[in-house]
Amino acid sequence: MQVHERLPLIALERGEGPWLIEANGQRLLDGISSWWVNLFGHANPRIGAAVGAQLQQLEHAMLAGCTHAPVVELSERLSALTNQALGHCFYASDGASAIEIALKMSHHAWRNDGRPEKREFACVHGGYHGETLGALGVTDVPLFRDVYAALLHPAHVVASPDARQADGPIGAARRAAVDVERLFAERAGQIAALVVEPLVQCAGGMVMHDPLFLRELRVLCDRYEVHLIADEIAVGCGRTGSFFACEQAGIWPDFLCLSKGISGGYLPLSIVLTRDEVYEAFYSTDSARAFLHSHSYTGNPLACRAALATLDIFEHDRVLQQNLQRGAQLDALLRPLHEDARVANLRRCGMIWAFDVRRQALEQARSGGNHEAFARRYFAAARALGALLRPIGSTVYLMPPYVLDQSENEHLASVTRAALDLALAP
Ligand SMILES: Cc1ncc(COP(=O)(O)O)c(C=O)c1O
Repeated sequence: MQVHERLPLIALERGEGPWLIEANGQRLLDGISSWWVNLFGHANPRIGAAVGAQLQQLEHAMLAGCTHAPVVELSERLSALTNQALGHCFYASDGASAIEIALKMSHHAWRNDGRPEKREFACVHGGYHGETLGALGVTDVPLFRDVYAALLHPAHVVASPDARQADGPIGAARRAAVDVERLFAERAGQIAALVVEPLVQCAGGMVMHDPLFLRELRVLCDRYEVHLIADEIAVGCGRTGSFFACEQAGIWPDFLCLSKGISGGYLPLSIVLTRDEVYEAFYSTDSARAFLHSHSYTGNPLACRAALATLDIFEHDRVLQQNLQRGAQLDALLRPLHEDARVANLRRCGMIWAFDVRRQALEQARSGGNHEAFARRYFAAARALGALLRPIGSTVYLMPPYVLDQSENEHLASVTRAALDLALAP
């Protein structure tokens, strides 16, 4: 957004569970988990205590030639969550860096296997993977990508499996898979990896697809010897209903990128999980075959402790099961939107809800058909009504923390609807 168009900044003083509290006392229900990172509420005492205890013990140490209990324990627990299918973890501090690592590691693993010509990548129409140059190269959101086009190593873009298409979720998944096969038949010899956001493309506008697409990708990647990179930075950690989104398709990728919610939204952390075969491709006495990639805060002990506390909450509170009930509650409260003539494609995947505002409704509103103006008006209206909601253009979505009780769900649903009235006022 241009600075001159910016709405007044929200000056936050503190957080309290799912609530953010402004300096002026206004309480905002965090309906988007603060950019999809905050899973268990702000100022969560359990995560805070775990980080506090670690702070007294070891705040940071380099992970080159050193190791420590939090990073070992976290690696073991994450690998166990994949039933050891992805038994190796590589650490960084943010989502885009995890994508960079997966791309570099994929190319380098092929290179170590005697196939250096595999240096191209494929991504899915509308996918978003971060803002660094490597991540933007596999991102298909023109708003973020196009200004930097001259600097990028652009990926091949395959058709969208968007379930909203006329032939429905299965038809769309099949058609997109046919497009992947067409590309692989031509260029698999040069393509190292295909990167996908499993089940929901988030920043691209909460675009959902059938798990069939992921199964088809797995088959095609195996057949044509292309690595599959699952970007679960936004959709991992229970967001789609299972801990990893890929579980719903019954597949494991070759690389799985996690970030955002894994630390409960407490500290920057990202992890790339990968298979034995990839690990072994680097295992050598030759340093040119080694993966020489590091970040200063790689595997930071405080961030790993926050992640371990997050995994403890998942286990002890049976979060995935509890979310079934929480999700059903919010679903019922949002049901009237199905009857709202201004709303199209009300959709849900696990703890993500989204709908699109119809073009006619946008054109009749004061925003005059301008999607960004609508998003700003909606954001301001929601703030005034007591919630943090930030549409992507004319797509309104909810991604709440996994802690809302019935009355908070009611508040969120009522703000969602009332903000629509205000934002679409003529
Ligand atoms: C799917 C996906 N991948 C990658 C990223 C980049 O993560 P970060 O902002 O931590 O670099 C994001 C961020 O929104 C994302 O949603």
